Amino acid sequence: MHSELPEPDAGQRAHSERLVALIRREIDAAGGALDFSRFMDLALYAPGLGYYSAGATKFGADGDFVTAPELGFVFARCLARALAPLLRETHGDALELGPGSGALAAELLLELERLGALPRRYGLLERSADLRERQRARLHAQCPHLEGLVDWLDAPPARPWRGALIANEVIDALPVRLFALRKDGLFERAVQVGGSGRLDWCEVEADAGLWRDVDGALGARAATLPRPYRSEVRPLLAPWLAEVTRSLERGAALFVDYGYRGGSFYAPQRREGTLRCHYRHRAHDDPLLWPGLQDITAWVDFDALAAAAAACGLAADPVMTQARFLIGHGLDEVFSDAHATARDETARFRLAQEVKRLTLPAEMGERFGVAILRR
Ligand SMILES: C[S@@+](CC[C@H](N)C(=O)[O-])C[C@H]1O[C@@H](n2cnc3c(N)ncnc32)[C@H](O)[C@@H]1O
Repeated sequence: MHSELPEPDAGQRAHSERLVALIRREIDAAGGALDFSRFMDLALYAPGLGYYSAGATKFGADGDFVTAPELGFVFARCLARALAPLLRETHGDALELGPGSGALAAELLLELERLGALPRRYGLLERSADLRERQRARLHAQCPHLEGLVDWLDAPPARPWRGALIANEVIDALPVRLFALRKDGLFERAVQVGGSGRLDWCEVEADAGLWRDVDGALGARAATLPRPYRSEVRPLLAPWLAEVTRSLERGAALFVDYGYRGGSFYAPQRREGTLRCHYRHRAHDDPLLWPGLQDITAWVDFDALAAAAAACGLAADPVMTQARFLIGHGLDEVFSDAHATARDETARFRLAQEVKRLTLPAEMGERFGVAILRR
């Protein structure tokens, strides 16, 4: 499978090797086996070296993957229609987590302006210094007259605030722990240094934290799953959700991501879990390959998100598919307005393609869910 992936050049390999050297030191310090969630955190966010912290293109046609806001403006315009009543009613702020290239922020602000529903402030919470710079440039190019509304935040606001929190494809990027249910018990899938000095897998006995998390996620269903059964849990989700919503005193938090719900995340047929890597528009399942050069994600367990929401006093609407969400928030109108004013046939074709990608069941339409949590 690796042979089908495009080879990184010498500079990219050297970059990845620097990150691998850092990871090896952490493996040593951890006694020989590193928790996968720590590996994933380093691979994505190690300062200056991790996938999201270093300078690679990542998003869009020249990068590794395309997200809904990167396809065009349709997603953002529908989202603006969903948020406008809430922003008008609360006279509140908007806070976007993990804003990527800034594409969503720019289109959302422009559409909210057209709808007469601009937030008081638009906060961008971003871990990566490199991405902050790109977001700044994007907003400056696309909506310079609205730049004054935008703040970059290092942490969620400390003071109570009202309005809307938005996160598109952020939860899938939060680190996961990997487990293997075997005939002889529960094991953690961790990262070690293999014979030739390369990163390699190992399975170690699960610690108390992993037992608790797997038990909480699987409950009695564990007994019905085939062995071995490999999957993941995201212990960071509940504390992270509590942290990012703590000061939201009235409003809604909207999370869009690929995921499963209704008890289907740990389905018997999904016995290798949901971890995926994205490298130059190819998806594969080897996160130890070229750390720092590829995205690593795992699907979202929307049931775990609902449980985490309940624990912090948020009321969860039933999760809906992205297609249903967009159709329910003006997709028809957005499409016909844009179609009527499109420059030429190419623009109309692109628009139709964008709507297909966003809504077709096998594309983003049903694989993506929208969770709205209210307070
Ligand atoms: C897959 S990208 C999605 C980017 C963008 N939202 C989009 O839809 O194109 C994941 C984003 O989440 C950010 N991220 C990951 N963990 C985060 C955290 N704990 N807080 C804020 N942002 C985070 C990454 O830096 C990156 O911008």
